[in-house]
Amino acid sequence: MKSVIGWGFIGAGGITKRVMNDFKELSDAKLVAVFSRTEANAVQLAQPYGAKAYTDCEAMIRNPEVDAIYIATPHHLHMEHACLALELGKPVLCEKPFAPNAAQVRKMVEKARETGTYLMEAMWTRFFPVTRKVMQWVSDGTIGDVHYLTADFGFSAAENPQSRLFNPDMAGGSLLDVGVYAVSYASMVFGSKPVEVLSRSRSTSTGVDARMACLLEYENGQMASLFSSISTSTPQEVRIIGTKGHIEVPRFWSPREARLFIGDRLEDTIKDERTGEGFGYEFTAVHEDLRSGRKENALITLDESIAVAETLDTLRAQWGLVYPFEG
Ligand SMILES: NC(=O)c1ccc[n+]([C@@H]2O[C@H](COP(=O)([O-])OP(=O)(O)OC[C@H]3O[C@@H](n4cnc5c(N)ncnc54)[C@H](OP(=O)(O)O)[C@@H]3O)[C@@H](O)[C@H]2O)c1
Repeated sequence: MKSVIGWGFIGAGGITKRVMNDFKELSDAKLVAVFSRTEANAVQLAQPYGAKAYTDCEAMIRNPEVDAIYIATPHHLHMEHACLALELGKPVLCEKPFAPNAAQVRKMVEKARETGTYLMEAMWTRFFPVTRKVMQWVSDGTIGDVHYLTADFGFSAAENPQSRLFNPDMAGGSLLDVGVYAVSYASMVFGSKPVEVLSRSRSTSTGVDARMACLLEYENGQMASLFSSISTSTPQEVRIIGTKGHIEVPRFWSPREARLFIGDRLEDTIKDERTGEGFGYEFTAVHEDLRSGRKENALITLDESIAVAETLDTLRAQWGLVYPFEG
């Protein structure tokens, strides 16, 4: 792998612009190509970085200067774009949710394994120094045996049937947009799939989940209580409760701080004084994997991405939420 990795971005919407603010600070990566259906969007993102703008996705992926692909299109297109890139032998970092359902995630993973090409879900939460420290406190028993976790991720958006948040054709709804962070966090802490899932949701007028709450029970009785919403603002906090203490992680999905309590005494606070949003951490993890010849990332394995997608499927099945493209 080259010392400076050339990236091609598929999608030129909201998230790619935020990602670029951090990505441009990386010394070992550069943006070389951007695909968008809309030429002006591709040009707008590509031009400041001297990258090439494309409206033909395959041509962009085939560009020999493109060493890796970042996918940031709406959820329902992730599988199509990931499989195309993998088929052409280009490593893929694909936005969350990896795909709208587990069947699509399995197809992406099969394609990666069949072609021997790198694939990772862009679950950037895992790569923050704060998250890594939290996981160290959990795994070394600092808070004792973990019995319970709570996570909420809600924000309030005006209902717009065309937007990807509300449109069922684009796999809209709170669960896949932000609930996935909570489900993935519980999976990271408990290290397995829940054995029992209880849940409720409320629909938007477009028929996707405006908000949902669930209780997940794990094999040895550990429990997680999760809430997601696109109709309610919430503190967006994780609490991990153990027999000796607990951990609080404000804004857990891109954390700047975590607090460790032993009993009810504040024992330690860890802070991340970064200037950007923190997207650089996940790109750096991909770069390390590619340079070491690894085909997946140890902090978010492909099998775990499948397991999380299966839990999301179970939740939607409980509400009878089937997207039009799922038949
Ligand atoms: N990690 C995070 O914190 C984070 C934050 C926000 C979003 N995301 C994820 O990133 C993905 C994109 O979200 P976003 O907020 O950036 O969405 P967005 O602003 O709607 O942008 C999506 C991009 O995909 C293109 N696109 C839309 N429909 C398409 C189609 N049918 N065929 C081809 N391209 C299409 C858009 O239009 P044009 O092709 O016309 O340019 C745009 O370039 C989602 O999966 C979301 O969950 C992650």
